[in-house]
Amino acid sequence: MVHLTQVVFAGLVAWPAAVCAAATDKKPWPQGVSLKSFIGTEQKIALDGVLANIGPNGARVPGAGPGIVIASPTKENPNYFYTWTRDAALTYKTLVDEFLFGNKALQPYIEDYIHSQAVLQTVTNPSGKLLPSGAGLGEPKFNADGSRYNGNWGRPQRDGPALRAIALIEYSNYLSPARNSPPLWGLSCEACTSQAPQILCFLNSPAFFDASKGHLLGNINIGSFRSGIDANTLLGPLASFDVNAPCDSPTLQPCHSKVLSTFKVLVDTFRDPNLYPINANIPKTKGVALGRYPEDIYYTGNPWYLITLGAAELLYDAVAQWERQGFVSIDKTNLAFFKSISPSPSLARAGTVYRAWPVLNVLSPFSAILNAVTAYADSFVSVVQKYTPPSGSLAEQFLKTAPGTPISADNLTWSFASFLSMTHRRNKQFPPSWVPTSSSSLLLKPPSQCAGTSYKGTYAPATSAGAPQLNVTCQSTILFQVNASTYYGENIYLTGNSSDLGNWDLGQAIPMQSSNYTSERPLWFAKVPLSAGENIGYAFVREQDCGQGWIWESAVDAGNRTVSVPPCVVGEEEVVRGETDDAFRGEGGRSGGC
Ligand SMILES: *[C@@H]1O[C@H](CO)[C@@H](O)[C@H](O)[C@H]1NC(C)=O
Ligand SMILES: *[C@@H]1O[C@H](CO)[C@@H](O)[C@H](O)[C@H]1NC(C)=O
Ligand SMILES: *[C@@H]1O[C@H](CO)[C@@H](O)[C@H](O)[C@H]1NC(C)=O
Ligand SMILES: *[C@@H]1O[C@H](CO)[C@@H](O)[C@H](O)[C@H]1NC(C)=O
Ligand SMILES: *[C@@H]1O[C@H](CO)[C@@H](O)[C@H](O)[C@H]1NC(C)=O
Ligand SMILES: *[C@@H]1O[C@H](CO)[C@@H](O)[C@H](O)[C@H]1NC(C)=O
Repeated sequence: MVHLTQVVFAGLVAWPAAVCAAATDKKPWPQGVSLKSFIGTEQKIALDGVLANIGPNGARVPGAGPGIVIASPTKENPNYFYTWTRDAALTYKTLVDEFLFGNKALQPYIEDYIHSQAVLQTVTNPSGKLLPSGAGLGEPKFNADGSRYNGNWGRPQRDGPALRAIALIEYSNYLSPARNSPPLWGLSCEACTSQAPQILCFLNSPAFFDASKGHLLGNINIGSFRSGIDANTLLGPLASFDVNAPCDSPTLQPCHSKVLSTFKVLVDTFRDPNLYPINANIPKTKGVALGRYPEDIYYTGNPWYLITLGAAELLYDAVAQWERQGFVSIDKTNLAFFKSISPSPSLARAGTVYRAWPVLNVLSPFSAILNAVTAYADSFVSVVQKYTPPSGSLAEQFLKTAPGTPISADNLTWSFASFLSMTHRRNKQFPPSWVPTSSSSLLLKPPSQCAGTSYKGTYAPATSAGAPQLNVTCQSTILFQVNASTYYGENIYLTGNSSDLGNWDLGQAIPMQSSNYTSERPLWFAKVPLSAGENIGYAFVREQDCGQGWIWESAVDAGNRTVSVPPCVVGEEEVVRGETDDAFRGEGGRSGGC
């Protein structure tokens, strides 16, 4: 039993009760108004901005299917006119919240989303099919009309389906609060009880926390070129947030000690004026512009609106959790965080600060801490206010150098959605609780020793939500391997006379992977489940970088390269049962220099 000490903050009256952004009437909107007034106006722009990017009626995205969330209307530099499962899910989580907070007009949008996702799950794509293995669920992105995206991409990506489930479960619980009517998707999640404790175990293990530097690692096993300091450790807790969850919950809540420590390390990383010149000369107690990770080179690595807003949201979340539980625990892991927000580093000390406070007319330490963290949160929103253009549109990024001009995709749905969710939390509007209250719950009990177990899921199309019925054929996976020297930007596709290989249609061909490509072995590969017993003719095709067209292998017809698909084993469709060893025939490609 830990002995809890009431910590007294010396000089606590010096803590500011709140920080009000000074309204300067010199500058035009959005900079020339108070923070509160900016948030009030931008909140409406943000909601309109989200809805304008959703089909079929979204004003900025003609051509998008019903319930399909387009990442951004921008079609070039960069082309974001696609739907990402992740962005769409996070957007809809916020829209479901907004609906539950009283915006009943959103219900048709939510119904459209449910239907669109039920159908999208059944679309065969380069990551695979829904049946029987669920592999197709890993596909990160689809075309605006809901058809497969066939370009080269980092795939599969696993976060999208889980985030989509979070959004849909929240709505499903609203529909059937007693949880005794059939859930939308009709299947129970046995894997949840077997795998969730393992995931919690790994997330809480030393492997994911650099104890000497005090931060969670955003990624492991990728070598030394990434520090692991990554804003995904800040965005993750926003998705798992439950205002009633205890701070020490293994679900890594916003008020978790490791999360707060990570927050400080991340923010300090971006305070460096050599990394982000626009953050120069900002006092340590004030928020700064935040990006993805210090090694980021995408668009030369700039601050993102949604991450800077996410920082504010995380702090509002933490404040709400302390308010609910009635105390703040300061320990050696999060001490540096609390010191950084206190006006004098000597004020914060390890111990528990309770709400109860006997001294009249003196701000309690508990209130002082919550006020300081709230003011710190507001200061991140002020950074966003500073770099928001007069139209109120929020792009993906703003330049790390003065004057912080917006760049990359304009009117990014996720930027708008993050503004909305930040506003909800600032207004003390919280999504329904979901973390089990009883600590005896299986879901909250990571085993003492983590194990890399696996579980085979059961998959079915969500026909009750509008998905088509699918026929399952027993398949065996073939590993296609081809040696093909390529220049940077050139890709290799596999096609053939089977519908699984696109029937010679390059729009349906399989993009191959180059993750094992070396100069010694220029390997492109693809693992493709194919119907057992089929005899398939196939060929490889080069895709050029600037739209110069495709280069087919020479002297190849459907009868040249062939593979016979061996018998399948039910339940083992993803086990490689055959492989090819080929070398690309014919001319190499040439970069278009675009
Ligand atoms: C983004 O929104 C602003 C404000 O409505 C508009 O001027 C701009 O054209 C939009 N950009 C795109 C790519 O839709
Ligand atoms: C499934 O099989 C049935 C009967 O063979 C057929 O009518 C139907 O079109 C098939 N569905 C799909 C999606 O292929
Ligand atoms: C790619 O490399 C990884 C790591 O060395 C190896 O495990 C995997 O089998 C390789 N895959 C192929 C298709 O060569
Ligand atoms: C595909 O090509 C192979 C090899 O030429 C051939 O044996 C097979 O019958 C073809 N399949 C179809 C459906 O035409
Ligand atoms: C298949 O390719 C080989 C090697 O390029 C060639 O000798 C042969 O004629 C081709 N066969 C057919 C049927 O195209
Ligand atoms: C592909 O490259 C590897 C490594 O150099 C070699 O062992 C293999 O024989 C090559 N395959 C073909 C078909 O040339």
